[in-house]
Amino acid sequence: METTKLRYGIDAYLDWVEREGLRVHEGLSLNLFEAETADWPRFGVKGAVCHFEGRGDFANMFVLEIPAGRSTELQRHLYEEVCYVLEGRGSTQLEFADGRKRSFEWGPRSFFAIPLNARYRHFNGSGTERALLASTTDLPLKMKIFHNEEFIFNTPFEFTDRIGKDEFYSGEGDLHMIRPGNNMWETNFVPDLGTIELTEWADRGPGSSNIMFALADGIMHAHVSEIAPATYKKAHRHPAGTHVLTLSGNGYSLLWYDGEKDFKRVDWEYGVVFPPCNNQFHQHFVTSNEPSRYVATGVGGPRYPITEEKRRIAVGKPGERQAVSLSQKKGGNQIEYEDQDPRIHAIWLEEMRKRNITPKLTI
Ligand SMILES: [Fe+2]
Repeated sequence: METTKLRYGIDAYLDWVEREGLRVHEGLSLNLFEAETADWPRFGVKGAVCHFEGRGDFANMFVLEIPAGRSTELQRHLYEEVCYVLEGRGSTQLEFADGRKRSFEWGPRSFFAIPLNARYRHFNGSGTERALLASTTDLPLKMKIFHNEEFIFNTPFEFTDRIGKDEFYSGEGDLHMIRPGNNMWETNFVPDLGTIELTEWADRGPGSSNIMFALADGIMHAHVSEIAPATYKKAHRHPAGTHVLTLSGNGYSLLWYDGEKDFKRVDWEYGVVFPPCNNQFHQHFVTSNEPSRYVATGVGGPRYPITEEKRRIAVGKPGERQAVSLSQKKGGNQIEYEDQDPRIHAIWLEEMRKRNITPKLTI
């Protein structure tokens, strides 16, 4: 009698990762500059994938290491991705169905999106230095839904509605002033996330600022936030999968679930990434006299929330503020300073004392 393997409890995404032979990084957090990579034949360069504890159901992060003088193989795929340049200089060339091409040159701290299913290739512009890119993608979502590698990587359909304006590829964009915390920069390419102008977001803490992105009209979410020197932001929580990558400054984050006695802690500097877990409270603390920036990337944001929970958190009901920066006492997802566990401020004051830095936040 012929026996067939029982097909049950399948994760088509993890099966694909295994077939692909990708180097996998797991854990709570990782410094991407230290991420080991291995040959990735599909891209013709070196790569790895990060599966953090808090990645959730929809998102992953790829690390792409392009050796000096090399380029990736031509790609197209039905997953979306937003790419951050950790180091190196180079360019990305995009090709659309009508033969039009777009290209842009990137360097450290550049950030861009690949329009859905556009053909593209990354070029390392240096003959001596590697280029290191990190991209957050919705491939887990797409692969679990379609579970067909050929469909994901070899479908000719052109999403002409995702191409956007020419100037979106040259560092220009459209600024949509919505409200503090939700102001949005629409583009495809940001030359430098370290210098892009942010808008005030005092609800999250004194001196806080941010900007949301709408990139290639996709469902990938991204925003940059800045925390003022020698201060910290208020705690909040939301669904899993938002990958927080530190761009500048030094500090740490505390993570905990409601009712938990102890905090988990992630110390960060440039290159450290972690996604807080599902509805896990998290709070970011600066322990230096420099402001600290991070970029947060995930699936579903203010333009396309994808889930109703994300709509509640990122958009809010008509006439109401987004829950992510609304006090828990008002039905939101944020803990005001006066409501937080007193140990939180004490831990931070002690960290500041150890570093001989004068705290600039009194609560
Ligand atoms: Fe968050």
